[in-house]
Amino acid sequence: MAQSVSFLLVLTTLLAFAPFTFGGHLYPQFYDHSCPKAQQIVKSIVAKAVAKEARMAASLLRLHFHDCFVKGCDASLLLDSSGSIVSEKRSNPNRNSARGFEVIDEIKTALEKECPQTVSCADILALAARDSTVLTGGPSWKVPLGRKDSRGASLSGSNNNIPAPNNTFQTILTKFKLNGLNVVDLVALSGSHTIGNSRCTSFRQRLYNQSGNGQPDYTLHPSYAAQLRTRCPRSGGDQNLFVLDFVSPTKFDNSYFKDILASKGLLNSDQVLLTKSEASMDLVKKYAENNELFFEQFAKSMIKMGNVSPLTGPRGEVRKNCRKINT
Ligand code: HEM
Ligand SMILES: *[C@@H]1O[C@H](CO)[C@@H](O)[C@H](O)[C@H]1NC(C)=O
Ligand SMILES: *[C@@H]1O[C@H](CO)[C@@H](O)[C@H](O)[C@H]1NC(C)=O
Repeated sequence: MAQSVSFLLVLTTLLAFAPFTFGGHLYPQFYDHSCPKAQQIVKSIVAKAVAKEARMAASLLRLHFHDCFVKGCDASLLLDSSGSIVSEKRSNPNRNSARGFEVIDEIKTALEKECPQTVSCADILALAARDSTVLTGGPSWKVPLGRKDSRGASLSGSNNNIPAPNNTFQTILTKFKLNGLNVVDLVALSGSHTIGNSRCTSFRQRLYNQSGNGQPDYTLHPSYAAQLRTRCPRSGGDQNLFVLDFVSPTKFDNSYFKDILASKGLLNSDQVLLTKSEASMDLVKKYAENNELFFEQFAKSMIKMGNVSPLTGPRGEVRKNCRKINT
């Protein structure tokens, strides 16, 4: 008996000091000993950036998503083109759209000063996404940590695996399922569109020629569509910005789901959550009714998304500069 207790003690001690024995498992205390100030440093720089520009919270939250859907949450998104690496930043979903890379650089620089080559860029993205959510009024959660950074990027993965705003509901759901995420995760995580902006080019098709017959999308509220057309013309103005949630564009809340119920989801991919599947329709209604339920599920689904194929242990590296692999 005493022997088995001391065996357990030795085992837990070993486990505590040899995180790699968890074999691919992420956990919130990963940097508690190696870089105790890591989370605080990330939070303070994200807070400063969001205070300067409210939209930055949305941009940082989106970066984690665009990272995780391409080869897993491995910071592949952050690599610039160089040598054999073709940056994901030039993909269709990211080009002229993904932003916030300078904030990630600033966090990385501060962390390299505090504890060199310890905190991965992939973990910075996961922490910044959580902090951005909290700073805008959303739920909090403990972020499982211990991801390593990739030594490569995938432009084709970025083009093909990240859902496009005019993908069908089924295509979008399939892209989530390929990452181990289900319809509950899809609807909850789409709730991210409660903050941030979209360019005219991402939803123009709905305003003028939804299905090739020269008519706008009939699931889009007509007067809202008319209002959008004034700044999103048939041609030109591609980069003009629009808020994703017109009710409270910088506040993380469930008004995104209320917008959808009012036929005022901005993107086609938002509105189809109500119109193309009974399961997702039920979830949209539930989250519109119950903010707490939305927050609870959002936190769970963010943790699930953050667990998509992380590189752990020796299967990756901790980049010194998030834009470049180590030499
Ligand atoms: C369900 C499929 C999704 C589609 C089709 C989609 C598509 C888009 C599009 C087209 C934009 C506007 C980009 C632009 O015009 O520059 C956007 C913005 C955004 N997306 Fe998504 N998205 C999806 C899911 C998600 C998820 C899962 C998250 C986060 C967990 C997310 C977070 C965001 C945020 C925060 C913004 C605003 C970014 C900013 O203002 O910089 N989206 N999304
Ligand atoms: C979706 O949008 C892209 C980019 O604007 C366009 O090339 C494509 O034809 C659209 N797909 C459909 C099915 O409308
Ligand atoms: C709408 O799109 C279809 C092809 O998708 C095209 O043939 C048609 O000319 C367009 N109509 C208008 C009014 O732009």
